[in-house]
Amino acid sequence: MTFVITPKKKMASRGYLFMLLLLVLLVSATSSTTPLSPNFYNQSCPNALTTIKRVVEAAVQNETRMGASLLRLHFHDCFVNGCDGSLLLDATDTIDSEKNAFPNLNSARGFEVIDEIKKEVDKACRGPVVSCADILAVAARDSVVALGGPTWEVNLGRRDSTNASRDDANNNLPAPFFDLAQLINSFKNQGLNLTDLVLLSAAHTIGFARCVTFRNRIYNDSNINPLFSAQLQFTVCPRSGGDDNLAGLDSTPANFDVSYYLNLIQKKGLLHSDQALFNGNGSTDALVTQYALNPRAFYKDFASSMIKMGNINPLTGNQGQIRTNCRKVN
Ligand code: HEM
Ligand SMILES: *[C@@H]1O[C@H](CO)[C@@H](O)[C@H](O)[C@H]1NC(C)=O
Ligand SMILES: *[C@@H]1O[C@H](CO)[C@@H](O)[C@H](O)[C@H]1NC(C)=O
Ligand SMILES: *[C@@H]1O[C@H](CO)[C@@H](O)[C@H](O)[C@H]1NC(C)=O
Ligand SMILES: *[C@@H]1O[C@H](CO)[C@@H](O)[C@H](O)[C@H]1NC(C)=O
Ligand SMILES: *[C@@H]1O[C@H](CO)[C@@H](O)[C@H](O)[C@H]1NC(C)=O
Ligand SMILES: *[C@@H]1O[C@H](CO)[C@@H](O)[C@H](O)[C@H]1NC(C)=O
Repeated sequence: MTFVITPKKKMASRGYLFMLLLLVLLVSATSSTTPLSPNFYNQSCPNALTTIKRVVEAAVQNETRMGASLLRLHFHDCFVNGCDGSLLLDATDTIDSEKNAFPNLNSARGFEVIDEIKKEVDKACRGPVVSCADILAVAARDSVVALGGPTWEVNLGRRDSTNASRDDANNNLPAPFFDLAQLINSFKNQGLNLTDLVLLSAAHTIGFARCVTFRNRIYNDSNINPLFSAQLQFTVCPRSGGDDNLAGLDSTPANFDVSYYLNLIQKKGLLHSDQALFNGNGSTDALVTQYALNPRAFYKDFASSMIKMGNINPLTGNQGQIRTNCRKVN
């Protein structure tokens, strides 16, 4: 719509312009797309980011896998009603903790590291200035960097939820038995497209999965390298028992690299949902091949998709709160 203001209407248009300005201000103040900013804590807590990085580096130094676990926490936060720290709330009479949802139970880990970061950051800021949701976003980035992956500027200014939903965690987090259509739909529901799916799934270039999450794949799937499945069957994941035994999600679980994609091309994806991205005929095969062959493009585009995921439905302005304890509502 265009408005042409002729000189005759000038006086009337002043009031009109003022109304328009008011409307713009109102919309931008209430909009849920209020942009986050990488500089959000520059004045209020200039040492926030270096403090988070220090604790993440120490935790990854102590246990490499922690980098993967922290990256996963941010994902599991963002896919359930936005990046709002809801995942971190412990169960109470009124909080149906997301930690008890199937994808998280006996699976999500790193909560003690988040507590440690929160303690140190609140000390550095002389008070609870940095939200738990922002801590998750920064810790995810620092974890990727610590394991040799790309860096990016993390948008900040998210606030923390005062509620959580186990049901929404069960419904919104994708499952390892999903096929491609289900994965695409799950990501689409979060405003993420096919390229984001292929990029963010490659987070499985680091970390581990339990036998129970890939048993069906290694005994029943046909699009799997037979030596790969045989080896997993004999060494890690028997037909029954050993549910919690771990296998690397790719061949180099401590390195953020393109091995995840190379493994998919060899039909050595660990999860059914991983191999779904490269099935020899699907809409994502070409993207997998492209990123397998071009680590620089993968690094750059992975960073963009992480920023995109981090922007999902944040609480801003006077919504939510800054928790003093990430496990509890203030
Ligand atoms: C595309 C759909 C996805 C599915 C179906 C999926 C599923 C899983 C499963 C089943 C595990 C193993 C859990 C266990 O053993 O208890 C896992 C681990 C992991 N996931 Fe995903 N995931 C997906 C996408 C993502 C995304 C988008 C990220 C991050 C951006 C991510 C990061 C991780 C990491 C880093 C681990 C290893 C965690 C650790 O070692 O502690 N995943 N995922
Ligand atoms: C905010 O702080 C970051 C990190 O210390 C720095 O890179 C950036 O230039 C600062 N931005 C502004 C606007 O001061
Ligand atoms: C170091 O990692 C081990 C597991 O490998 C864990 O049990 C321990 O609590 C960690 N220590 C610190 C200080 O994080
Ligand atoms: C959590 O609180 C927000 C904001 O008050 C509300 O919009 C949302 O519906 C609540 N979610 C649940 C699962 O109760
Ligand atoms: C997905 O979105 C990004 C921008 O966020 C865009 O560059 C890319 O081309 C999109 N991919 C598809 C398949 O639409
Ligand atoms: C393989 O598939 C069959 C038929 O769907 C099922 O009964 C069996 O439990 C599956 N085996 C494993 C190890 O998941
Ligand atoms: C792709 O190939 C797999 C077997 O490799 C088959 O099960 C699946 O139906 C095929 N999908 C399409 C869309 O052709």
